[in-house]
Amino acid sequence: MAGKPAQQQPGLHMPSDDVFPWIGFGTSGIPNADSVRHAFAAGYRNVDDAAAYGNEAANGVAIADFLRDHQRSEIFVTSKLWQDKHRPESVRTACAQSIKDLQCQYLDLYLIHWPEAFKPGTREPETDFSLLDTWRAMEALVGDGLALNIGVSNFSLGQGVHVVAYSPLGHDPKAILGDPELVSIAKSAGKTPAQVCLRWNIDRGVAVIPESGSAEHIKENIEGIYNWTLPAAVKERMDALNRDQRLIDPTWHEWED
Ligand SMILES: NC(=O)c1ccc[n+]([C@@H]2O[C@H](COP(=O)([O-])OP(=O)(O)OC[C@H]3O[C@@H](n4cnc5c(N)ncnc54)[C@H](OP(=O)(O)O)[C@@H]3O)[C@@H](O)[C@H]2O)c1
Repeated sequence: MAGKPAQQQPGLHMPSDDVFPWIGFGTSGIPNADSVRHAFAAGYRNVDDAAAYGNEAANGVAIADFLRDHQRSEIFVTSKLWQDKHRPESVRTACAQSIKDLQCQYLDLYLIHWPEAFKPGTREPETDFSLLDTWRAMEALVGDGLALNIGVSNFSLGQGVHVVAYSPLGHDPKAILGDPELVSIAKSAGKTPAQVCLRWNIDRGVAVIPESGSAEHIKENIEGIYNWTLPAAVKERMDALNRDQRLIDPTWHEWED
């Protein structure tokens, strides 16, 4: 399954009927094109990037390489609108820049990265317009063919919304992957702790976008992912692992929970 065109992989079916493959490759800390190349070679066809990661031009080189021998429709590319580009008149320019940097012709998914707007070039809150104004500018991107799908990131959940788990390995692997209970669960399932974390999310209907700069981890994270599901007893142990701990906590954002 992995390695098949994105639309032929199992995943989330979007209202447009496009498929967001259950596993994508996260790139926030990826400095050059090598890791995306490894990801394509390992079978990923779903890439998560964002202007704020500062690496879209680098990753675009790997995408351009891939597209020399493949159809554009074989991959699913996500980018995100940074917070200082929420002004409706900035949205199109920001999206077009990401498309240009990623060398991907159009985006399969464009997300509002965070729900707060900043003044251009700053981290100061911007309150002259509403998120709805930004969203309407996002909608225009679909009409103009720059983005096939649009969505939001780091917003409170509404009903019927498809969810993607970012940092599905806990961001800092030391925080989660060495947990003795997880290690024991993985052993009982004959998988690695990372593989169990990823499949646990997929089994509850949540797509995953793990990041890695290691060719071995990139492969491990996707290998066989579509060929198994968590046995009920393993799922129960995973469900009980909650530690009431938040691992991503940016200074500018207040969570509702
Ligand atoms: N929308 C948002 O606001 C938002 C926020 C955060 C993240 N994201 C997205 O989610 C992606 C993933 O998040 P993340 O990077 O924060 O966290 P993550 O994927 O949970 O963890 C990445 C870390 O796990 C390690 N790792 C990966 N596979 C491993 C394996 N099989 N065994 C052991 N360690 C492994 C990586 O180290 P190695 O490099 O050594 O493998 C890296 O240190 C990002 O790249 C980004 O695309 C989005």
